[in-house]
Amino acid sequence: MATTPTVYLNGRFLPLDEARIPVLDRGFIFGDGVYEVIPSYSGHPFRMAQHLARLQRSLDAIQLPNPMTTALWGRLAKKLIGLNEGRDQAVYLQVTRGAAKRDHAFPADPTPTVFMMSNTMSTPARELVTNGCACVSATDNRWLRCDIKATSLLGNVLMRQRSAEADCLETIMFRDGFLSEASSSNVLVVHGRTVSAPPNNHLVLPGTTNDVVIELLRKARIPLTLRELHEDEVRAADEIWLTSATKEVLAVTRLDGVPVGSGKPGPLFKRVYRLYQNFKRTVMRRN
Ligand code: PDD
Repeated sequence: MATTPTVYLNGRFLPLDEARIPVLDRGFIFGDGVYEVIPSYSGHPFRMAQHLARLQRSLDAIQLPNPMTTALWGRLAKKLIGLNEGRDQAVYLQVTRGAAKRDHAFPADPTPTVFMMSNTMSTPARELVTNGCACVSATDNRWLRCDIKATSLLGNVLMRQRSAEADCLETIMFRDGFLSEASSSNVLVVHGRTVSAPPNNHLVLPGTTNDVVIELLRKARIPLTLRELHEDEVRAADEIWLTSATKEVLAVTRLDGVPVGSGKPGPLFKRVYRLYQNFKRTVMRRN
């Protein structure tokens, strides 16, 4: 039988089923908080510095001081991984504006709530990597600060549910006819030998995995353009990829029931997938 996971809450490590937050926590009442999901392989958090830099940007955007130093976040994450099961784990951390009388305006002197958990993570199954996945599309109707990794995820939740109901892995979104991202992943597309992705701006989350893929493409001198992509271009693409910390990089082989390119993961996907796995191994060996 699996043991109860250990979580971190406001300075203490404790069993998950003993962790409690007050009902007036602004994370619960307003979704007034930010979060990160950091993959960890064989006990080593991957791209921790980049995740913590993004956390800082999210905290700055919601005007909440960072309750910890980078070094402390790192130590807590490592300790939590050691206290939980699973060779590979996904560390989840969340900071909210804490408990206060319900009022939309910020409390004068908030005490943030800091919560961390770490769950066993399985990297995408071989079958999914080999065959690719199916996605649906939808009009992006979320707010205009998608660059903040906010816990208020209702827009994303409703989007993901559409794909879940269609037995698909993701919902790829278009805003005003242009590609933004998927409900919990970034999207890249391939035309011929060129990879394209939307630039980082307020309409997408600046993905840490996307950044790794972009670095790898540049190193391998694979042509890359960061630009707005019209829906028609996406539907006509030879390949579509999803990236996220837990999905790594995956090929989309059907969009709205229509095959993408050949309907199989394409040659550039296979190359980038290999580059990504090699990069992961190299980074982990250095830790
Ligand atoms: N989601 N876009 C959105 C809306 C996301 O929620 C995520 C990640 C990404 C990819 O970012 P990264 O490569 O840094 O994981 C893009 C995480 C995994 C989640 O919410 O569980």
